[in-house]
Amino acid sequence: MKVVILNDAAAVAAYGADIFSKQLKQKPNSVLGLATGSTPIALYQELIARNKSNKLSFAQARSFNLDEYWGLAEDHPQSYRHFMNINLFDHIDIDKTNTQVPPGNAKDPRAACEQYERDIINAGGIDVQLLGIGRNGHIGFNEPSSSLASRTRIKTLTKETTDDNSRFFAAGEFQPQLSVTTGIGTILESKKIVLLATGASKAEAIKACVEGPITASCPASALQMHQDAVIIIDEAAATQLSDIDFYKHIEAENQKLEKMLEALE
Ligand code: F6R
Repeated sequence: MKVVILNDAAAVAAYGADIFSKQLKQKPNSVLGLATGSTPIALYQELIARNKSNKLSFAQARSFNLDEYWGLAEDHPQSYRHFMNINLFDHIDIDKTNTQVPPGNAKDPRAACEQYERDIINAGGIDVQLLGIGRNGHIGFNEPSSSLASRTRIKTLTKETTDDNSRFFAAGEFQPQLSVTTGIGTILESKKIVLLATGASKAEAIKACVEGPITASCPASALQMHQDAVIIIDEAAATQLSDIDFYKHIEAENQKLEKMLEALE
């Protein structure tokens, strides 16, 4: 697990965008795993800017989102499909028919979840998966106690998560208590994983994710088992880590190594 600690949220977004840019340049038909929430918005804005200035193309890319509310129509303003359209897809050259979000209102949810897993496999698997993290350590909507081997399924949201997300819903508006989310097992099969976290409210979850034991109590801790996971955080989200200096030292050495390897290309 690589931990990258940067000054602020803008630097986190730029670092994450560099990983996606590099991936798409190396493999234009990459399969991208995408997330919603507040954290990735700055990264998406960075990708949109690079696309608009012709530095980056998504024309051949495919994407799969992590999760969706259960019970909202695709065009509902709070659906994650709608979020992705307005925050990314509407502004880049991706073919929208190549973008998938888990089915939030399928007639047969179990069959639809199994199909989503098959679709990911048939696309060749996810090349790079973007993640945020909940204050309770959730990734996707895999809440604490989710099986570390879980697959795409319907999942009940915790009160903490529905409280956190209530800011997006008007008073009295229906807010789903259920979601459909790819599983921790699904996420761990991605070739590369990029988790972003910014702000002090994520410090405890990041501590548990990076330095805690691998436990279903903190779903993000499962990333410790992945061979290519990078945790990109700002100083505020890093405050509870014990080994900050060591992570910064590793990153400085990695940057030197990267430059050396780039010079060989
Ligand atoms: C959303 C998702 C969630 C969020 C997490 C953090 O697709 O997968 O796990 O990443 O709830 O949300 P923000 O970024 O709003 O703090």
